[in-house]
This record gives sequence, structure tokens and C-alpha cells, in this order.
Amino acid sequence: MLRVEKLSTEYPNEYGQIVKAAQDVTFEVPEGKLFTLLGPSGCGKTTTLRSIAGLERPRVGEIAVGGQVVYSSSKNIFIAPNRRGFGMVFQSYAIWPHMNVFQNAAFPLEVRSKRRSRKEIEEQVMRVLRAVALDHLADREATKLSGGQQQRLALARALVMQPPLLLLDEPLSNLDAKLRERMRFELKRLQRELKLTTVYVTHDQSEALALSHEIAVMSEGHIIQIGSPRDIYERPRNKFVADFVGTTNFLDGVITAIEAEEGYCRVRTEVGELKAYAADTPRVGKKVALSIRPEDIELSEERQEGVNVWQGTVDAKVFLGEYLDFQVKLKERLLLARVHPSLKTPVGKPIYLRMNPEKCIAIEEPAASTSAENAPVAAVAPKVQSYAG
Ligand SMILES: Nc1ncnc2c1ncn2[C@@H]1O[C@H](COP(=O)(O)OP(=O)(O)O)[C@@H](O)[C@H]1O
Ligand SMILES: [Mg+2]
Repeated sequence: MLRVEKLSTEYPNEYGQIVKAAQDVTFEVPEGKLFTLLGPSGCGKTTTLRSIAGLERPRVGEIAVGGQVVYSSSKNIFIAPNRRGFGMVFQSYAIWPHMNVFQNAAFPLEVRSKRRSRKEIEEQVMRVLRAVALDHLADREATKLSGGQQQRLALARALVMQPPLLLLDEPLSNLDAKLRERMRFELKRLQRELKLTTVYVTHDQSEALALSHEIAVMSEGHIIQIGSPRDIYERPRNKFVADFVGTTNFLDGVITAIEAEEGYCRVRTEVGELKAYAADTPRVGKKVALSIRPEDIELSEERQEGVNVWQGTVDAKVFLGEYLDFQVKLKERLLLARVHPSLKTPVGKPIYLRMNPEKCIAIEEPAASTSAENAPVAAVAPKVQSYAG
């Protein structure tokens, strides 16, 4: 198990200011689980990972793996990176140019486990090379591989030792879309099979949702929500998470009543009233932002029974193969609905929207994000996919 507690890592920048790259970062990864740090560029993912590896020295905090403390500011412990024995693949991976693919993958085994037989080593190496789809290139010189193949080789080399902790920093970022998806499956299978305790870093939300047992969403050095992929997607705790993980519609509103059913309330918005689910305890008069995912808006030409039914007008449509995106106009607002391509309602015609209250998430305003004073100086504001109309 990995335990990271109240970790803060800072850098001085070129103007002599302090960049608070990771702040008060706390999480645990149970044995054999894959935990993802997800967030936009500059939010502190790599810094956190490098701090765990021992490549950065945090200002404060504590890090322990399997009960052994590898860093502690209060106990004045700092174990050197090479003595932590973690497997790592970073964005800038390095392969050994004077060796072929097999030798590259076998090297860590050969230096660390002298007692192993040739045959054992060969079996283990070929197994990881198969997993990263490089087995057919075992004899090729490592320098004659493409960027993506080199990245997979770096991954194979980290996996072959079955380390107590595997640290992966955007390990699939150099691959083309098709290969990336395939490697995603392979990586997931391998991680589950070998039960490797893994910290995975990515800015790609679909990668995080597909691979992880648990996700921590980071913004400006802080973890702002930790949860299962489903939790993060269906129960975002604030606007940043709702917007960064997936596409969503936001509607500003005010809570007008509390429903008898626990967690539910009524929200008045600029386009109508809705029954919604509140992430935090609802209170009449509280300002909220409603987050409704495009796939959670049902469309139909006939008025449907039940709560949360509104009438709008079809404003535009985009055909995307497996589904159709409808832009629906309600008063002055546009909402995005993702529906089955069989719906043929023409542009300009009326249409009914129905939204399951469980999928209308009332998020407290303002976003429970971080204060500006703590923001890293060089933080890049992400351009995230959103549909605020
Ligand atoms: N060596 C460094 N010196 C100064 N600032 C750094 C250094 N490394 C990272 N930073 C800054 O720390 C913040 C977090 O960076 P990083 O951890 O690399 O983010 P991410 O991996 O999420 O993109 C950014 O503002 C970045 O500019
Ligand atoms: Mg990074």
C-alpha cells in the first residue's frame, strides 16, 4: 500500500518566486490497485509523482510504501530514489541505445536477480514484451524503434521487475489513437494480473475513467475530489470536476424547496424548474450550478410523463456515427443532448426534454476549488470541453 500524507512540493521560478506545485496532497493506494492523478497541464501531477519517486524533495509531508516510510519531513527521512526500488515510466523515457529490445527489457532482471536462470529470465521478458506488443521485435536494435515503440519498451522494462510500486507519467502519450486504446486495455489487464500497486498520471479523462480503480482530480496543486471513476463522472463535487471530466451542460439556479426524498431538492433556473440531486446538504435560497450530461437528456417528439419535462426547439444537429448531438433551444439557452441516431426531428421543430432527477446534479457555487493566492504562478488555464450555451 502507498500512503501519501499532506505532501507539499515547491520550486523557485526564474523570478525568485515560489511555485507551489503540489499542496497538501493526501491519498492512499491499496495493494494491487491503480490510482490516477488526473488534471490539466500544470496542475502538479508530475511533481507529485516525482516526489513519490524521490526525484523531488518535498517541503513537508510523509510518504510510505508497504509500511516503510521513504520520506518524512517531521522524522527527517529521505530515502534515495534508487533505493526505493519503484518502477517508473516518465514522459521522457530513456532506452539503452547499445542494446536490442530483448536486452533492454531483460537488463533490470539481470542486474537485480543473479539467481535467476536464463530460461526464467527469458520467459518473464517475453511475457512483458508480448503484453506491450514488442515480442516480434525482440532482436531489433532499440534505436531502430519508433517513438511509440520506445515508449512501450520503457513500460516493459518497468514492468519486468514487478516492483512494489509502479509510477507511470502519461506513458501512452506518444502513441497514435488506435494503439493508445489497445495499450490501455493491455496495461489494465497486466496491472490487474500482476496486481501492481500503480500511480498513473494523465490529463486524458477517458484514459483515467477506463483504467482506474480510483481517481484524484487535481487543480492548481490541490486534489479537489477523490472517487471511483463512476463517482467522479456521476457525482462531481464542483464545477471544475464536472467540466474537466466529460462534457456537461451547466445551468445556474437557486434552490426553492427541499424534497422529502433525501438529497433531492427543487431548483429554479433561467429556463424552468427542476428536481435535482444535491451533492451537499441542500438549503432553500442557496445558489447552485446544475450539471446535466448530454447523454442524460432524453428527447422525444411526444410530451412524456413524469418530472423534469421541458419543451424546447431543435436548433442544430450533428451526426457523429454512433450517436447524434442535438442542440436544443430553451428560451435564450442552448442545451446539448446526445441521443440515438434514429431520432429524426428536423431543425426548427418543437421537442420535449426529460431529465432524470438523479442525473441533475446541483453543485454548490462558487466552485469549491482553490483560492487564487495558492495558485502556481505559471499555471496554465486549461481549455476544457464544455457546453455552457
Ligand atoms: N523544475 C521546476 N521548476 C520550476 N517550476 C516547475 C518545475 N517543474 C514544474 N514546475 C511548475 O510546477 C507546476 C506543476 O507542474 P507539473 O507538476 O509538471 O504539472 P503537470 O504534470 O500536472 O502538468 C507548474 O506550474 C510548473 O510550471
Ligand atoms: Mg506532467
